[in-house]
Amino acid sequence: QAEDGIRDVERSRGLGDVYKRQMEDYADFKWKIIVIGDPSVGKTTLMLRYTQKKFRELYIPTVGAQISRKIVKIEGYLCSLNIWDIAGQQKFSNIRRLFYEGADAAIIVFDLTNKTSFINSSTWYNDFSSHSDSSFGVLIGNKVDLKKNRIVLQEWGEKLAEKMGFQYFETSAKTGKNVENVFSYLATTIFESISNNR
Ligand code: GTP
Repeated sequence: QAEDGIRDVERSRGLGDVYKRQMEDYADFKWKIIVIGDPSVGKTTLMLRYTQKKFRELYIPTVGAQISRKIVKIEGYLCSLNIWDIAGQQKFSNIRRLFYEGADAAIIVFDLTNKTSFINSSTWYNDFSSHSDSSFGVLIGNKVDLKKNRIVLQEWGEKLAEKMGFQYFETSAKTGKNVENVFSYLATTIFESISNNR
């Protein structure tokens, strides 16, 4: 099980906040995780929730991409997750292809209240699999807190994820539901694949 290792390591090595950036140098593994999906499904907000435990009500479309980092500890190893949040808008599609390069896993996000975003998840998956060597990923139905507006059923999500060979999660960037679990699952899965290939 992955756990947040930043504070542990800072304490044990006597490092303060200022040195967080240098944590990257201590990492035993560095992985690139890309977050893709239609505009406004909550990609940036999920990342914000995971890396800063915050929620943003206002929709500010991502321009190009933004990268966040979080270090997790798995079986004593420090693993640096470099999370690339890619703009969902079509006008950024040319830049987007560059971001698939070297990705270790994908997080495909759709909005449970938006059927089109669910249907388009298949296109995002095809885009990822044709541009990347990795086959790791998760499919996320986000905004599970908006119960009354929900359109996509859990079983639809599960079936689609099965087709992709991905694990399915339903999350809320607003309440934080399942957000840690998504990243923890991915980090553990990548770690295990490396251990098994040794
Ligand atoms: P692009 O940058 O255009 O690709 O969009 P995005 O997928 O990054 O969407 P973003 O994270 O900016 O979120 C869009 C809107 O949805 C914002 O107003 C968020 O506050 C809202 N939102 C995101 N996640 C949730 C959630 O889990 N629940 C609710 N209720 N609102 C959410």
